[in-house]
Amino acid sequence: MTHPRLSLALAAGGLAFGDGRVAVFGPRADVSLRDLPQARCQLITGFKPDVDLFEQQGWDVAVAPEGAFTAAMVFLPRAKKLAKAMIHTAVALSAGPVVIDGSKNEGVDSLLKDLRKRGVVENVISKAHGKLFWITGFTAADLADWQAPERQEIDEGFETAPGVFSADGIDPASRLLVSALPDKLGKHVADLGAGWGYLARNILTREKVKTLALVESDHAAITCAQANVRDDRATFHWADATAWRSERLLDAVIMNPPFHTGRAVEPQLGQAFIATAARNLAQSGQLWMVANRHLPYETTLAERFLDVKEIAGDNRFKVLHAARPRRSGR
Ligand SMILES: C[S@@+](CC[C@H](N)C(=O)[O-])C[C@H]1O[C@@H](n2cnc3c(N)ncnc32)[C@H](O)[C@@H]1O
Repeated sequence: MTHPRLSLALAAGGLAFGDGRVAVFGPRADVSLRDLPQARCQLITGFKPDVDLFEQQGWDVAVAPEGAFTAAMVFLPRAKKLAKAMIHTAVALSAGPVVIDGSKNEGVDSLLKDLRKRGVVENVISKAHGKLFWITGFTAADLADWQAPERQEIDEGFETAPGVFSADGIDPASRLLVSALPDKLGKHVADLGAGWGYLARNILTREKVKTLALVESDHAAITCAQANVRDDRATFHWADATAWRSERLLDAVIMNPPFHTGRAVEPQLGQAFIATAARNLAQSGQLWMVANRHLPYETTLAERFLDVKEIAGDNRFKVLHAARPRRSGR
């Protein structure tokens, strides 16, 4: 399958990537890269499941661009600040065209409008609920206000980065989970989908916790967590939680699992987190998790644990506690 807009731009729209290296920002496994010159591309993404997949497919992948480029392509992320920062970096690094592609949901129209106020935007291709266009005459100075600081400080002194989950403040669901956690969690704990470390810092206020594994797929988020959680008991795992295995069986898993990677709700992601929790818990181990009230986790919990109950909640969120994992082998 080819990319609906990129294939058009290359075939008939007058777009050419030249002969040099191409920096590709924000590629995702669900977007076709077939039209790109693979041998000359560096894919820039920090989402570990995609990094692993792209590497298996033979792409050069990095979490930050390395070296010089003669062209760049930006696949827009949902977070606007991050999208602008990516375009700024792409313009700063590319000697030639910067191609921007995104769906309406990713805010492509407002970015296009904003860019048109600043310079010339060539050949807009609209297809499949999105737009692709390219810019050539821009300099980084034209987009200076789009440059984002690598880190920002939010409530309680936490550091976050553009585009990470809940970058501008503590998530209310995670706050609710923290307020429902007991004093005793046991010695060995994991925080699945740890983000920039809000839950982890609270978990580690308990002296009896001896080890805490923070498992997170977003490189920018786990890097923030390393800055936010300065404690020798913490270990940081840039990994896909759905495939993660703890070195030892755990006493507790705490999590506010993700429920989408793109725009659409994907409850199977949270369900896979529940499976990871059950697989890694000792027989006496317990899971505490928070979720949006409408998400269907109870059936999966009942399949994986003998005791499941809601221990706190409001009209938006529920905190679920599960104990006695059913053994189906790790
Ligand atoms: C709802 S957020 C919770 C973040 C953090 N625990 C908090 O309370 O602020 C879910 C986190 O899971 C991460 N995530 C998404 N898919 C993942 C995966 N397959 N493996 C590990 N983490 C993942 C997201 O990047 C995000 O940081």
